[in-house]
Amino acid sequence: MNAEGRTALNRTPEWAALKEHREGFGGTGLRELFDADPERGRTYTVRVGDLYIDYSKQLVDAEALRLLRELAVATDVFGQRDAMFRGDRINTTEDRAVLHTALRAPRDAVIEVDGENVVPAVHGVLDKMSGFADRVRSGEWTGHTGKRIKNIVNIGIGGSDLGPAMAYEALRPFTDRGLTVRFVSNVDGADLHEALRDLDPAETLFIVASKTFTTIETITNATSARTWLLDALGDDKAVAKHFVALSTNAEKVTGFGIDADNMFEFWDWVGGRYSMDSAIGLSLMIAIGPDRFRELLDGFHTVDEHFRTAPAEENAPLLLGLLGIWYGNFFDAQSHAVLPYSHYLSKFTAYLQQLDMESNGKSVQKDGTPVEWQTGPVVWGTPGTNGQHAYYQLIHQGTKLIPADFIGFARPVDELSDELKAQHDLLMANFFAQTQALAFGKTASEVREEGVPEELVPHKTFQGNRPTTTILAPELTPSVLGQLIALYEHKVFVQGAVWNIDSFDQWGVELGKVLAKRIEPALTEGADVPGLDPSTRALVADYREMGG
Ligand code: F6P
Repeated sequence: MNAEGRTALNRTPEWAALKEHREGFGGTGLRELFDADPERGRTYTVRVGDLYIDYSKQLVDAEALRLLRELAVATDVFGQRDAMFRGDRINTTEDRAVLHTALRAPRDAVIEVDGENVVPAVHGVLDKMSGFADRVRSGEWTGHTGKRIKNIVNIGIGGSDLGPAMAYEALRPFTDRGLTVRFVSNVDGADLHEALRDLDPAETLFIVASKTFTTIETITNATSARTWLLDALGDDKAVAKHFVALSTNAEKVTGFGIDADNMFEFWDWVGGRYSMDSAIGLSLMIAIGPDRFRELLDGFHTVDEHFRTAPAEENAPLLLGLLGIWYGNFFDAQSHAVLPYSHYLSKFTAYLQQLDMESNGKSVQKDGTPVEWQTGPVVWGTPGTNGQHAYYQLIHQGTKLIPADFIGFARPVDELSDELKAQHDLLMANFFAQTQALAFGKTASEVREEGVPEELVPHKTFQGNRPTTTILAPELTPSVLGQLIALYEHKVFVQGAVWNIDSFDQWGVELGKVLAKRIEPALTEGADVPGLDPSTRALVADYREMGG
């Protein structure tokens, strides 16, 4: 029992039952599971919005799923879910509500934080963003010299970068192709340099995105961007037409020199990695237009409603979360691959890395006591066929179990030529081939039947039983993208709820930030910084010597 009066997860009868079932399950393979139930290709599926989710190629039987759902009941996942939707302060270490779901709630919804309905403020900011986006898109909003804005540069990092950058790539076919939209995040000056080198300052709008407006990378890049602009335009007043801010911190924004009128607000109950559908999405909204942005929000909302109301057996985020727990806690899987078969989703997995790993990369429970079970996995992956020619070898024949999500679409985007559209079937043939090969492999006797020399048989044998989930949608639209993101947001929530960790803080990033601040004078001035360990002290000395 811990301080919250909760029995430790690994001492619950539900956990013990899962352990026992796992032992009995042993090496039961997917060929066996399909032989026993040929219908599972249709029955082990769930639908949410436009997403068709097939989990039949998972190493689970009905009993494992039932026991996993019981674990969810025992850990009060649905009670915790309701507390989140209600606006309770479930981020206990920061004493904050967690209400990204309010960002996509309809205008007439009522969601209260400290007795105040936050929905009107959410829509107020969305309306302000829409007005601004329309003015930039139409050319009504001009730069300081009267030139039309043709370039948008979002400066932010982490949740203030990954979401809009990922979604901009994902929705490129829906973007205004006349606009150049770039994302600068790295404090390495090369990032800003490459982003700005071919841009005309008079045509460039900077969007400084930072929840806290204190993040060193962002403020440093924004300061350099302002210098670049003012060097070219020679008038401090230019800032008002070329800089807007997305933040919760009005004081810091105005302190930086950005007019409060040019600030788009959000709130402390929006976590950075859950913020792409808040004001943080402004660059995306300018690129795709307010109507498409609202379609994206509707997509999120569809999955929110599903997660909030669907029964456990049909609840897709619950299911995906529990499958992750099955592998992480009962098969010792260390990682989880997300493999989109869409070039447009090239940044999707990088986005999920922050969402999942910053949320569930924790080793203490909510009450501060250590967890005695594995928590969040290493999330990784890149778009489909490229991975096939790189690291899929290890997934197919390596010694590690890597559960994977395959995400694909029935239709290519409209904009492609007929010839390029025809390539879509080839892409998707790979998509289906991979999950089949991973699941069912190729036995030694099947290899022998092909006349393969005996000494090569072990090398050409595929064990199979590599579990995958297939997520199929008709097309990658703004709504479908919103659905996908919300699916993963809530999956991460489910896992954190079962593991009894705070999925909404990120104290693990703090120490590095503090040390970087301390070390910097040693690099810039050769200052004798107290508290440097001998290894770091020697490296810093070498760095200064090498750098001349
Ligand atoms: O350092 C981690 C982090 O706090 C993330 O959680 C956040 O998304 C990112 O930094 C950027 O923070 P901000 O939006 O306040 O600049």
